[in-house]
Amino acid sequence: MQAVKITEHGGTDVIEYGEYPDPDVGPDEVLVDVKAGALNHLDVWVRRGLPTLSLEMPHVPGSDAAGVVAEVGRDVTRFEPGDRVAVTPGVSCGDCEFCRHGDPTLCVNFHLIGEHVPGLHAEYTAVNEENLIPVPDDVDWLTAASTVLVFQTAWRMLIDRAGVEAGEKILVLGASGGVGHAAVQIADFAGAEVYATGSTDDKLEYARAHGADHVVNYEHRDFSEWVREKTGKRGVDVVVDYIGAGTWQDSIKSLAKNGRLVTCGGTAGGNPRTDIPRIFWNQLQIIGSTMGTPGQVDDVMELVWDGTFEPSIRAVLPMSEMARAHEIIEDREGFGKVVVRPDSEYTGRLSP
Ligand SMILES: NC(=O)c1ccc[n+]([C@@H]2O[C@H](COP(=O)([O-])OP(=O)(O)OC[C@H]3O[C@@H](n4cnc5c(N)ncnc54)[C@H](OP(=O)(O)O)[C@@H]3O)[C@@H](O)[C@H]2O)c1
Ligand SMILES: [Zn+2]
Repeated sequence: MQAVKITEHGGTDVIEYGEYPDPDVGPDEVLVDVKAGALNHLDVWVRRGLPTLSLEMPHVPGSDAAGVVAEVGRDVTRFEPGDRVAVTPGVSCGDCEFCRHGDPTLCVNFHLIGEHVPGLHAEYTAVNEENLIPVPDDVDWLTAASTVLVFQTAWRMLIDRAGVEAGEKILVLGASGGVGHAAVQIADFAGAEVYATGSTDDKLEYARAHGADHVVNYEHRDFSEWVREKTGKRGVDVVVDYIGAGTWQDSIKSLAKNGRLVTCGGTAGGNPRTDIPRIFWNQLQIIGSTMGTPGQVDDVMELVWDGTFEPSIRAVLPMSEMARAHEIIEDREGFGKVVVRPDSEYTGRLSP
């Protein structure tokens, strides 16, 4: 089969699309004929390499994909050939104290398909049935492939970890990103007053269209001052900051007393300066969040499947143009998700 692969870490020139062995299907596994996949910022981290990541090369990247079941292993009970499915990439041991207490995202052995083990950007992929969710017939492949990772992440961050309530003021930084555009929609759905930042006016228009009530271009304006001004010096109840370097201190400054800062990443840098006096004096909470539990995935995907939430698609590319897909993410072009399809499935259309 054809697959995206990297043979070493580095720039976009390490990405190849070519022959790769067909996957073996284990007893608990399902072979999926991939119709579409999507990029996450994670694909860029994996390509560049991380100090904690040791991969067997060549590595097939990709943590989002959807397709049709082609074959099932002998112990698979929930799926059969022909079913439409999407992959949820979190893998847990099922056995540690956190798994036993019902939160596999806290698993001491938690890892992700595409990051720590071979991923999904290929014509076929074999994954454990636990990592599959059914996709209704009326949902198109672009939606199924591009929503599972970011919507579960944003849902857990806002609804479960930060406990956002109707009437609260929520600031989402980088509202054009995959997680950001999900967070804007979820905050709006929760009945919050949504404040959003973006680096271009196009991105802000788009954030408004997805539910932001107030928007600011943070390339041109100090966003914490803007928040203070808009809220009569009070600040917001929750800040969603996955950018880190360059925004962290202003995120802390943007919070009202007793506010919560929730993060799932450090896109621009993971070790920003911080402000301890403001954290204790204003009694702030700094909350980390990663992925979602199977129950959280089901809750949020129900709202994607029924159209309450929808992905915005920046581009659809054949997998052979994966280097260009990475450039779009790294250069902060457009908003929402970049979808990739096996060259054999590529139609050249931005819509389904
Ligand atoms: N822990 C988890 O479970 C989890 C899950 C998903 C994602 N993440 C993390 O969350 C972050 C966002 O992921 P994503 O896939 O949504 O990313 P993305 O689609 O690339 O979006 C990132 C957004 O951040 C803004 N940004 C600000 N500074 C940036 C910089 N230096 N480089 C790139 N973008 C910058 C951009 O918007 P503007 O141009 O408007 O600023 C961009 O749209 C990543 O760090 C990712 O690793 C974590
Ligand atoms: Zn575990």
